[in-house]
Amino acid sequence: MGNAAAEKEIASREALKLVRDGMTLGLGTGTTFEVFLRLLGEKMQEGLRVRGVASSTRTAKLAAGIGIEILEEVDGKLDLDVDGTDEFDDRIFLIKGGGGALLREKIIARSSRAVCIIADSSKYNPSGIGRYPLPVEISPFLPETTLKELQKLGARCSLRGEGKFITDNGNLIVDCEFGTIANPEMTESRIKNIPGVLEVGLFTSINCEVYMGTKDGVRIFRR
Ligand code: A5P
Repeated sequence: MGNAAAEKEIASREALKLVRDGMTLGLGTGTTFEVFLRLLGEKMQEGLRVRGVASSTRTAKLAAGIGIEILEEVDGKLDLDVDGTDEFDDRIFLIKGGGGALLREKIIARSSRAVCIIADSSKYNPSGIGRYPLPVEISPFLPETTLKELQKLGARCSLRGEGKFITDNGNLIVDCEFGTIANPEMTESRIKNIPGVLEVGLFTSINCEVYMGTKDGVRIFRR
């Protein structure tokens, strides 16, 4: 197993300790989340029962395949959301959406009592997020107009897949290269203010913990 794969497994095993029988989970998206899902599947074989809301059609299919009941609406808050990240820093600011699932991921995170982000150590950027191009989900209506508005904020922007990448919600993704983002909270709210923007992959106000796998075990980041 390579470093990243081993670290994903370490972080996932630790996150699994938070899961209790009967919980309703937020189900993330991505390769790290899929390691968690595999381990969760093993627990379900032993009798654990959970339900969940999936952040992507891919996750919904995989989760249903291991016997998780997939819900289309939540009555109250989800007990626990588990998800990956593309980058994070010491302030627990995250960049998400590398897989294009950021809109559903943010709705789920906001609807959860607890959020556990699992990551390998390559995702940690102690000098502040911005290394990973920031994904923004936009309406397919006048996409170039929205892209130009994003560019005005100082980023180099491109439509993912030259406009051919379509999200599960039928929208487009713009990847925005800012370099280190000096003020992520302000950037998040400025981007959200642009008409045509549906969601941005900056997570600055989600109350979460990051479980990072390292060669020496798990390191937990809390605000
Ligand atoms: C999906 O849109 C993303 O937010 C993922 O959670 C993130 O990209 C992490 O994915 P990996 O675990 O595959 O790196």
